Amino acid sequence: MTTLLAIESSCDETSAAVVVDGTRLLSNVVASQAELHSESGGVVPEVAARQHVRALLPVVRRALDEAECSWDRIDAVAATAGPGLPGALVVGLNAARGIAYARGLPFIPTDHIEGHVCANWLGPEEPPLPALALVVSGGHTELLLMEDHGRFERLGGTRDDAAGEAFDKVARLLDLGYPGGPPISRLAATATERTLKLPRAWLRGSDDFSFSGLKTAVARLVAGEDGPVPPPAEVAWAFEESVVDVLSRKAARVAEREGVGALLVAGGVAANRRLREIVQERSPVPVFIPEPILCTDNAAMIGAAAWRHLDEAVPAESSLDIHPTVKRDPRQLARAGRR
Ligand code: KG4
Ligand code: ZN
Repeated sequence: MTTLLAIESSCDETSAAVVVDGTRLLSNVVASQAELHSESGGVVPEVAARQHVRALLPVVRRALDEAECSWDRIDAVAATAGPGLPGALVVGLNAARGIAYARGLPFIPTDHIEGHVCANWLGPEEPPLPALALVVSGGHTELLLMEDHGRFERLGGTRDDAAGEAFDKVARLLDLGYPGGPPISRLAATATERTLKLPRAWLRGSDDFSFSGLKTAVARLVAGEDGPVPPPAEVAWAFEESVVDVLSRKAARVAEREGVGALLVAGGVAANRRLREIVQERSPVPVFIPEPILCTDNAAMIGAAAWRHLDEAVPAESSLDIHPTVKRDPRQLARAGRR
């Protein structure tokens, strides 16, 4: 049995978790900075990094308390090395290394996207491999063929805005605050008239996505450039339908083509109720989606991914760096942060 303390700080959530054998979470404490960033309508990187400094140690203490876990039960420490905001990553990675050094524990730098995918191993059932992973978050929209743990092939991804980013931008247009996904979803559910149709970028012949045209269409619509402005609930509904229609159809088609045993949905947008529903409806293979709290950024998923790389743990004092952007060769996802 291996017990990991995991830390996540890549964007605007400070989180710490205690995870056993990459599958059983004893605690998962998430301190959200959403309120702090709602005024600016998005994450201000410097503000996020400073808040991580303040929140991190209390969050780690709470994670250990809630897990009723003493330090001598922790076997290794993991933290997100990237992708993410550089200042935010530096705080979590180095705090985690400091803890590992002080406790004489090995350290596992972990990839954030692999973390999102591995959140699917924290549920009641173990997904079969190979699987197709649809990662939809604020920073990423990726279709990854997961042959095994640590072995990913990127089949496609967004050419412009990430799906979550589109939710956040459209929420700003509708004055709904940040993050935009949950309020858009709530507003969409209240729409009585459901006929408005917004564009869908299918990018046929490719496994890529594009959401910036949709965002521009919403901007024109709410500015009255295309005629009378529809009620906000109808705009929210039509926008959400467009995003989930494209994500679900493309993911279902690629899952079929690749002959995988499961479709894994992950990332903040996977918390979206309509997406969860429609992916289940359309997928030709069994669908796995983490419970909503494990879809948005959290440290439990980092613990789940890190456990798959126990053999790559390094001494805390090793030369390590963050990697703010996705590795160019996605097969290297698992190697992220090591050099
Ligand atoms: O994975 P995540 O927490 O952070 C990143 O790695 O980016 O994803 C955050 C994104 C935000 O853009 C947020 O608006 C979106 O996930 N999101 C949602 C929902 N909950 C969060 N989008 C649609 N529907 C939701 N219920
Ligand atoms: Zn994320």
